[in-house]
Formats: sequence, C-alpha cells, structure tokens
Amino acid sequence: MAQIDQALAYLRANEAPFLEEFKELLRIPGISTLPEHQADVLRTADWLADALRRLKMEAVDIIPTGGHPVVYGESLHAEGKPTILIYGHYDVQPPDPLDEWETPPFEPTVRGENIYARGASDMKGQLFALLKALEALQRQGPYPLNIKFLLEGEEEVGSPNLARFIEEHKRLLACDVVLNCDGSILGPDTPSLIYALRGLAYFEVEIRGPKCDLHSGVFGGAVHNPAQVLCDLLAGMHDADGRVTLPGFYDRVIPLEDDERVATAKLPIQAEHFMELAGVKALWGEKGYTAAERVGARPTLEINGLLSGFTGAGSKTVLPAKAMAKVSMRLVPDQQPDEVAEQLRAYLRRHAPETVTWEVRELVHGPGALLDRNSSYTAAALQALRDTFGAEPLLHREGGSIPVVGHMQRILGVDTVLMGFILPDDGMHSPNEKLHLPTQHRAMQTYVRFLTSLT
Ligand code: BES
Ligand code: MN
Repeated sequence: MAQIDQALAYLRANEAPFLEEFKELLRIPGISTLPEHQADVLRTADWLADALRRLKMEAVDIIPTGGHPVVYGESLHAEGKPTILIYGHYDVQPPDPLDEWETPPFEPTVRGENIYARGASDMKGQLFALLKALEALQRQGPYPLNIKFLLEGEEEVGSPNLARFIEEHKRLLACDVVLNCDGSILGPDTPSLIYALRGLAYFEVEIRGPKCDLHSGVFGGAVHNPAQVLCDLLAGMHDADGRVTLPGFYDRVIPLEDDERVATAKLPIQAEHFMELAGVKALWGEKGYTAAERVGARPTLEINGLLSGFTGAGSKTVLPAKAMAKVSMRLVPDQQPDEVAEQLRAYLRRHAPETVTWEVRELVHGPGALLDRNSSYTAAALQALRDTFGAEPLLHREGGSIPVVGHMQRILGVDTVLMGFILPDDGMHSPNEKLHLPTQHRAMQTYVRFLTSLT
C-alpha cells in the first residue's frame, strides 16, 4: 500500500482516540485577550509543543514575542523537496455571553455529529486535523517534504507582535509556501479554497463635552450632548448608497475583475444564505454589489460597540460628559490601515463640532491579502479537496481577517494556501461554537493528500 493509503487507513482506524485527545486540547481556556487566562494560553502552547515533539519535530521551542509566545518546530530531512510553513493560532476568543451556552464552553460535548466548545472550529479543530494528518504520515515513514511550524497565541487579538517576530526570524521561517489552516469552506459537501482576506483597522473614538455628567433639565438645550454628537458623526460615516464617506476611503480599493463577479454570482452564498445565517428579514449594504461581493471584496465600516450615559434599569435624567464608540473597518487590498486611520481623523477634523473635543485611539491593525489563484500549490490544494470530497472545489473571497497572511507576503515574500474547514454555521466567536466531526475527518484526509502531493 502506498504511504498515502496507509495514512488514510490510520486516520479511519483512530477516530475514537483522536476525539478524546481533541477534547483535552479544547478543555484549555487559552483566551488571549483576558489577562487572567495568561497561564492557560501558555498551557496551550506547552500542549502543542509536546504534540510537535511526538511528531518527531526538531528544534521545538516556545519563543517569547512580547505578548503570548510562538510555538516553533521543524523537520527538514526531505532533500530536494519543498519546505512548507504550517501556520495556526492556538488562542481562542472569550466565551461570553456564558448563559447562552447549552453546555459550558470549556467542557467539550458531542451532540449529534458536532462537538461544542469555544475554539472547536476557530481554530483548534483545524490545527488538530493537521497534527493528525502528520501523525498518520509519520507512522508510515519519513515525511514527504520539509516542514516548519509557526503557531501563534495572539491571532484573536490582531497579532500585535507577529510582524516584528517574522521580521526578526526571517531565516528561521524561510519556506516555499505557507499552509494556513484557519480558513473556511462553503458547506460540508461544498469544498472551497479562500483566495482573498479582508484586513482590519480598529479604533476607539471618544467625544468629550462638559467637565462632568450634568442634569439634563438644567443644561439640556444649552450644552451639546456628546452622545448626540457621536451619533451624528457615526451616522455621517455612510451615505444613502451605503458607501463609507471617509475622505479617500476607496482610493486604493482594487476593483473586482469581471470574471470574479461572474464566478461569485454562481457561489452558493447568495442573499438567502446570509439572511438565514444571520436571522434578518432583509439585507443592507453598498449599492451595486451582491452580498457575497460586499463581504468578500468591498471595504466596510462597522460600529462594534457604544458607550455613553446611563444604561441601567430605570431612568436617570443625565447629560453625559462623554461618549465612546468602537469603530472598525474591514479593508480590502490595497487599502493601508495607517492611511485609513488618517482618513478617520480627517473626517473628524472636518465634521466634529466646536462644542466638543475628540480623540481617536488605534487598537488593532492588520492588512488584507489577495492570493495567487494559479500557483502549483493552489492546484495541489484544489486536487486534494477534489479527491477527498468527490466534488469540484470553488474559489471564494473571505470577509474575515488573518493578519499573518499579508505579513508573510510582505516580509517573507511567500504566498499562502489558505485551507481550513470551518463551516458557515460553526458559530465562530459566538456562543455554542461547534465543529462538525465528519468534516474534521475530511480535513485530515485532505491535509494528508495535499502534503503528499507537493514536489
Ligand atoms: N478564523 C478567523 C478568520 C476567519 C474568519 C477564517 C472567517 C475563515 C472564515 C480568525 O480567527 C479571526 O477571527 N480573525 C479576526 C482577526 C482580527 C482580530 C484581526 C477577525 O477576522 O475578526
Ligand atoms: Mn477567530
């Protein structure tokens, strides 16, 4: 039997023990944004470093970054074969709101074909599938290619230290191609590959008015209310056509190619798909584009949170001293987060009234990315998907962000194959996040096929 068939048989034979091991990983609450979980983030790193050692990776190391560490490992004995850098993130999002979970977020529970836990699909499940694919290969003989691992613990907070880490470890990370497992597919029987990601620029905008909260009867009508000012400013950030009004916002946007628009119109993600998943009765967005185009290929501006005044039960007649909004933009190639920050400031300089002061704080910045649809690595990934799913894989643009992909292009000059298996209804970042176990098994098979086929 060829190495690949033996590896596939090994995966089939070990479904039950794999599930128990996967639960171990899911039980660690490695929430990168919460300081009280720092030890858990480190425990996840340790767990993965041990897993890499069991896979006979060498030079396994937990490398400090200034934030949560990077886990590194390598196996470089396949002379003349390409070197693949496997990227994954081992941190997870906070699980709140807790009372909406049917079973606790860090007590992984199987119901039907799914396993429920925070991080199950985003992205411990993908990482685990990749580890098991390597285990299956390793049991059959030497690895068919050279492998490096870069596992980060800060993706869910925007990878603030990763660009510098990559700059400082260019030689260590040198490779022919990156395999990023943090991607999605369009459905359990609809294999697909992502060829674009949006970037992110995230801000806090604060408006300050009177020196303290005031009686709204005594001062209302004479003092400009910062909450009202903030609402006016935010409302003005879109025009009647759903376009963002920040000056210059669209200047660098690479327009969709005609052939992309034709292909996007055929994807199984049309209006009803978004309405059903989101539970809304109508969609909204930039005029002239379909929902899939708006999400994949057009930049957006979102209000992520609002804070001002009295929000408790009952009524308090108050004119608040300040108001704050969390505002983020999803960017498309070639928009630059720094330039967008300047566009936001220019908008506020132009539109904020004399009656208040304002401040913009920059939180998270990450670039978007457009990937090569025609490389031999993409072709190999498509073939692996085709062989596993028995269906023709589709190519699509993803609206979410994975900052490392753009960093790898810019700093290392290497492209990424973005092949993950998160399903549209997996509930990433939501309560009751889950992973579809049959899809995870297909992920393992696909990774085996892909890694064996690179020459
Ligand atoms: N796994 C997601 C990215 C993703 C989204 C992949 C949708 C496939 C489909 C990733 O972990 C994520 O959530 N990224 C953040 C990045 C941000 C904090 C810079 C995002 O998109 O909000
Ligand atoms: Mn995520």
